[in-house]
Amino acid sequence: METSPEITSVLRAAVEAGRWAPSVHNTQPWSFVIDGSELALRADDERRLRLGDATGRQMLIGCGAALLNVRLALRALGHEPVVRVLPDPDRPVLVAIVRAGQAVTADDDTRLLYAEIERRRTHRAGFTDLPVPDRLLRALAARAGTEDAHLHLVSSEAETRILAQITGAAQDALSRDRPADLEVARWARRPGSGRTDGVPATGYPREPRVTRPHFAQRDYAHGHPWGGDDDQFFSTSTGVVAILTTSGDRRPDWVGAGQALQRLLLHACAHGVSAAFHTQALENPHLRAFLSEELCAGRHPQMIMRLGVTFDGSSAVRRPVGDILDER
Ligand SMILES: Cc1cc2nc3c(=O)[nH]c(=O)nc-3n(C[C@H](O)[C@H](O)[C@H](O)COP(=O)(O)O)c2cc1C
Repeated sequence: METSPEITSVLRAAVEAGRWAPSVHNTQPWSFVIDGSELALRADDERRLRLGDATGRQMLIGCGAALLNVRLALRALGHEPVVRVLPDPDRPVLVAIVRAGQAVTADDDTRLLYAEIERRRTHRAGFTDLPVPDRLLRALAARAGTEDAHLHLVSSEAETRILAQITGAAQDALSRDRPADLEVARWARRPGSGRTDGVPATGYPREPRVTRPHFAQRDYAHGHPWGGDDDQFFSTSTGVVAILTTSGDRRPDWVGAGQALQRLLLHACAHGVSAAFHTQALENPHLRAFLSEELCAGRHPQMIMRLGVTFDGSSAVRRPVGDILDER
């Protein structure tokens, strides 16, 4: 049966939305195929971090976030998304097949989240002192829950300190591991670069301001005097520290964690709250196991984040749709 032009244009809009997902170092490890009435989301293993992401966990979290955007786009544009996650064990890079199902009227929540997809940005400094309301935090945890993940809000000072210290230790170890350090540096964009992937030099402060307790940032500048306008990054509050966890730790759990992450980030963004990520410790199996036992009650930590209010307006880049979409 011929696919209607309306369905094709909805699937194209879904790809447009998908590409704005967060991904480790903005690697954008995905590609899409529109084949008739189906949209395939594939992980691009060439873009996986060989050292920082040997198992593909972070790659699949990014793909999961892209999948959530695709689902939101379909629903916002009037179709129930029909999704099969990791449908073929013989094709492990096939993350999902999505079809535009029956007509639906988009609910307010879908419309709200869909509108935030291009506005959401990762923050890489302290937050202002403006509080994140408890009600919003509860709503974010509920969002994560709808995608089978758990948002553990770290409320005790001791736990926050442990997490900050482990992040610092992981970052120090990374800086001493030359191949791993160079892998991060390869995804840093120099000022004025025309690249459409990687972390922009305006996406972090030139002089990191210390929050208390301090959560070490990734070293994207790598000794260069790079960084955004310091006026944008003057705030020094740590914000609310949280760990996104899953009960399992296999490929479907990672795709699920990505969907949960994106759902809670978009909801936060709609309420003026941004996230900063510190996932260095999760790249080290020993530190990750320690965090699982000590802070996550045996669940598997997938993302470490701080949530807060910021006024920075850093920019983001993405590969153009033409580079990531194949139409058959
Ligand atoms: C699995 C994963 C891990 C990440 N880890 C970090 C991190 O440790 N430090 C950081 O600054 N950003 C981290 N990020 C955020 C990415 O750098 C960011 O999503 C990407 O650069 C695109 O920018 P945007 O989120 O502003 O669109 C991570 C994102 C994902 C999905």
